[in-house]
Amino acid sequence: MCGIIGYKGPKNAVNIVLEGLKSLEYRGYDSWGIAAKSNSKIIVEKKEGKLGNATLDLDSNFAMGHTRWATHGEAVAKNAHPHLSNDGNIAVAHNGIIENYQAQREFLTKQGFTFKSDTDTEVIPITIEYHMQKGYNFIEAAKRSLKHLEGQYAIVAFHADEDSLIAIRREAPLVLGIGDKEFFVASDIPAFLKYTRRVIFLEDQDLAIINSDLKIFNLAKDIPVKREISTIEWSPEQAQKGKFDHFFLKEISEQAEVVSRATAIDTKQIENIVKEIKEAKGIYFVACGSAAHACMHGLYLFSKIAKVHVNFCIASEFPYFQHFIVPESLVIAISQSGETADTLAAIRAAKEHGAKVISIVNVMGSTLVRESDRSILQGAGPEICVLSTKAYTSQLAILTLLAYALANKFEDGKAMIKELMRHIYYLTSENTRRFVRRLAEKLRYAPSIYLIGRGLQYPTALEAALKIKEVSYIHAEAYAGGELKHGSIALIEHGTPCIVFTSSETEKDIINNAVELKSRGAYIIGIGPKNNMVFDFYIKVRDAGEFNPLIQIIPIQILAYQLALLRGCDPDMPRNLAKSVTVK
Ligand code: F6R
Repeated sequence: MCGIIGYKGPKNAVNIVLEGLKSLEYRGYDSWGIAAKSNSKIIVEKKEGKLGNATLDLDSNFAMGHTRWATHGEAVAKNAHPHLSNDGNIAVAHNGIIENYQAQREFLTKQGFTFKSDTDTEVIPITIEYHMQKGYNFIEAAKRSLKHLEGQYAIVAFHADEDSLIAIRREAPLVLGIGDKEFFVASDIPAFLKYTRRVIFLEDQDLAIINSDLKIFNLAKDIPVKREISTIEWSPEQAQKGKFDHFFLKEISEQAEVVSRATAIDTKQIENIVKEIKEAKGIYFVACGSAAHACMHGLYLFSKIAKVHVNFCIASEFPYFQHFIVPESLVIAISQSGETADTLAAIRAAKEHGAKVISIVNVMGSTLVRESDRSILQGAGPEICVLSTKAYTSQLAILTLLAYALANKFEDGKAMIKELMRHIYYLTSENTRRFVRRLAEKLRYAPSIYLIGRGLQYPTALEAALKIKEVSYIHAEAYAGGELKHGSIALIEHGTPCIVFTSSETEKDIINNAVELKSRGAYIIGIGPKNNMVFDFYIKVRDAGEFNPLIQIIPIQILAYQLALLRGCDPDMPRNLAKSVTVK
């Protein structure tokens, strides 16, 4: 949540920062701002709303930028970052929350400082200023200030009269890009991918001091440290829209390759994980949002294919369930970003009980990867659209393969996924998109859409409802087919759209549910291998048995995209959301 970027080097820093912010906008887009240094002065420009053009025209080689998802203070220009100290000499961009900002603000007010914004962030530059007034230099004042600031944060800061740009990571993502005589610091790699693939993933409590060279100091240990430079495999093109109008559509279209890449997981790595799963006494999946729906599929898949019982808990609820965790427990955490605060809190709670943590993560070097005992990297490439699509299907592919590996049938699982490739290409093709648009035109004014499924199609229905509501703002709700009669069927009126996921396994019962809905006036949309007279609209998706979750969600991803376009919603940046939810 919130994207930050800083640049120091020979190029035009304002342009680089603005360009970087475009790649970070998925992290928050209710306001934005940049600060650049010119002739020992800091010039700031801040605006409300999505990223636009800056009027700042400076030939500076020192700048920072921020794109905001509001936590403290409304989404208006005065609350946008960067924030300045009272003397205007210190600029700060921040991602995270300063938990004790109220007490700190009170303290600083008593010292005669004033505040222009309602944010927690503004206490940072002013606390540094307070320490500089006591005679400390900028870096020392920043170090001292951080001792007084509680919470999770990533910070970029500089001083008008100093040649250093500093970056601090404390439980919020921050990565350095190492170029040729230039340095980048950002919340995420796509912000500077065009310029360098050499990165340093800062560790918790690292303070990076970027001058003509780079020094890193760990605040917790109070010592200088050396951090390894990694080369990342993503290409700059992967983080751009290319021929597509939106990342949403681009990422939907990449799913065949992404799923295929999941089959390249190292066999040895899978064997080690299988061993740990077999040895564990109690296995728990934790995740949030779409990744949580992937976990729910995991429950069915592990049970059905591998006859292994797994528990599942939404990560934000896990701390309330953690009491039964023992050192022999195994927690499997799933996260695209690897930075979701609730998922990290869940694994930390599990680790306090001595449990092992295995994670399935898309972003290399992320906090979840670093805090897990073992990780499977998804290799899905950067997912920029706020809605998860390709990362979700890649998680499903990996979970299905894990279940197959647990049943000693890993190679069979891989072969079956490969066999699906052509169908995935077809489902993401222009033809399917045109066909699904007809359905979107029928549903665009619907006040509510209901989705039902049984077995593996139930988590698919949950994920489908999430996709529709988060991007089209149409109310969408999923039910297990058998639950309808226990209350929810009361909602059905003449013309209420109900999307029914079928499979050969569940057909008899789910079609009965569809008939019950139709008897109450529902408009039935069927998605599955066989058409049925109860369907008013039908989308054929072949029966892939245990692999159905990988393909049945695709028409709904496309439907959600088309609904967003028809209703004038932004498909990549839905209102109120941000990718990578780094606050609880
Ligand atoms: C939905 C979506 C979110 C994420 C959730 C977890 O389209 O993208 O629900 O799935 O915020 O994010 P990660 O996977 O990064 O932990």
